[in-house]
Amino acid sequence: MPRTTDRLPFPYRPETTIVAQRLAALQGALDWAAAATVAAPWVRAVRENPPPFWAMESLLREYPISSAEGLALMRLAEALLRVPDAETAIALTADQLGRADFDGAADSTLARLSSSAIAMSKHFLPEAGNQPGLMVKLGARTVVAATLRAVQLLGRQFVLGQTIEEGMKEAASARKKLDQLRFSFDMLGEGARTDADALRYLASYQSAIAAIARTADPKRSPAHNDGISIKLSALHPRYEDVQHGRVMEELVPRVWTLCRAAAEANLNLTIDAEEVDRLELSLDVFEALAQRVAEHCPQWAGLGLAMQAYQTRAVELIEHVAALARQYKIRFMCRLVKGAYWDAEIKRAQELGLAAYPVFTHKHHTDVSYLACARALLDAPDAIFPQFATHNAGTISAILQMASRHGVPFELQRLHGMGEGIYREVLKNPLVACRVYAPVGAHRDLLAYLVRRLLENGANSSFVHQLADESVGMDELLISPLRLEPQPSLPLPAELYGAKRANSQGLDLAVVSHREPLLAALASTPVPTIPEASTADTEAAC
Ligand code: FAD
Ligand code: 2OP
Repeated sequence: MPRTTDRLPFPYRPETTIVAQRLAALQGALDWAAAATVAAPWVRAVRENPPPFWAMESLLREYPISSAEGLALMRLAEALLRVPDAETAIALTADQLGRADFDGAADSTLARLSSSAIAMSKHFLPEAGNQPGLMVKLGARTVVAATLRAVQLLGRQFVLGQTIEEGMKEAASARKKLDQLRFSFDMLGEGARTDADALRYLASYQSAIAAIARTADPKRSPAHNDGISIKLSALHPRYEDVQHGRVMEELVPRVWTLCRAAAEANLNLTIDAEEVDRLELSLDVFEALAQRVAEHCPQWAGLGLAMQAYQTRAVELIEHVAALARQYKIRFMCRLVKGAYWDAEIKRAQELGLAAYPVFTHKHHTDVSYLACARALLDAPDAIFPQFATHNAGTISAILQMASRHGVPFELQRLHGMGEGIYREVLKNPLVACRVYAPVGAHRDLLAYLVRRLLENGANSSFVHQLADESVGMDELLISPLRLEPQPSLPLPAELYGAKRANSQGLDLAVVSHREPLLAALASTPVPTIPEASTADTEAAC
């Protein structure tokens, strides 16, 4: 049975009203100027010792995503790993490199080096549309192989190992140098298209949990053991609201087998946050799991949920999850993130012609929401162990300040391959714990994850991007987010085409108040039974 009421408020509410409430909730809770003063030396230290030239943030500074060159690299990274045959790979590489001008490099060693390499490669590629001759083709294959290798190397920055054993070995050696580190391994894979895919991902999560369990100490709390992050979209090919019945019947038992194994070893198992229209469905799954935890292993405090601060419903989500913990008399671990699907959410709301966006449209509104959510998490220590995932020095410093005022246990988190510099500084305080989200797997499963990291590193508004850009001064980098913009930064979806042409209005079928009237209308509309024709009937008709 599909849900008949939503757990959370309507997602498409005016941004300013919500942000004003979040700002009010932060009154007196935070001294931003003091937080910025603490963060400034971290930034200076990172800038004095910048990441290597091949790091994604350095490359994207040379070739911003908004430039033809950046876009070409992004499209190659997105598509090249998936192209099954050489001819198409050659055509794609020729097309993408042909669109960009890598010859006119900016004045830096990296830009000069990479530009001349790419510009030289272009000469070996066939002209778009021309049938390549044998020699040219040989050259083209080499160029494609080199481009493919470059894309794989870009991806490697974000992957801890190809197998869980390899990843755990890397984790152990990192921990030798810094014992406040914990890891949450993420077996790459998401958006299963077939049940066979879903079962393959399930098996990979199962064997990863078994491997992590072998080195974990069940007597230690999940906050001290390594753990695992899972994506529900990897575990069922129809993880979507309209398939509610199947999701509850088929997906929940699969996730429960993982929870049981994690509970036995006292590991943290966190369900990643994915698209906005899956949030209510994920809460139905989460509550079904909470019921089972309460019944079978109530002492396990390791079940976790990731929450996206860019959503208009983020604070209410935290309140809801805290209420669930109290109802079932268990504790959860909650990972606060800003959200990695921003572009896709904006696009979807525009395509559907919705009244508003389900996510904020000003970057600093998301930051405000993040801090308000942090406060809500810190206010619920009886129900939630808070985990703060961010690479932004200002946000980290603000969280440390708020957490020390609350005096409750918490941990920070970062993604493998991101934020190393800032965390090198932050973790000089031995009392701060940090969990590293560590993707593990093969290149074929990396694509979607890699594109999100490309977008994050490439966005002008992103902290990691600005940190790598020396032209962004300290004041701008650590500016207070605590201010309200009166208007969204984008036209509302309905007004996308301006005053003269209204966007067609659509519905979000994952929201009960949109879905119910449609279902009611369908129920009250007589739909005539369609007579089935036999083969003989069709032949006669022909
Ligand atoms: P910042 O640069 O301060 O913030 C960037 C973020 O701001 C963007 O990612 C976006 O959320 C937001 N933003 C950008 N532009 C705008 C705009 N115009 N209007 C409003 N908001 C904007 N993400 C998930 O979605 N699900 C997960 O399960 C998840 N797990 C994670 C686990 C860990 C350990 C970490 C570190 C990150 C995880 N993420 C997840 C990714 C996370 O959402 C991004 O890394 C994070 O948003 C970057 O935030 P920041 O504070 O590091 O950087
Ligand atoms: C993502 O997959 C880290 O869960 C986050 O982008």
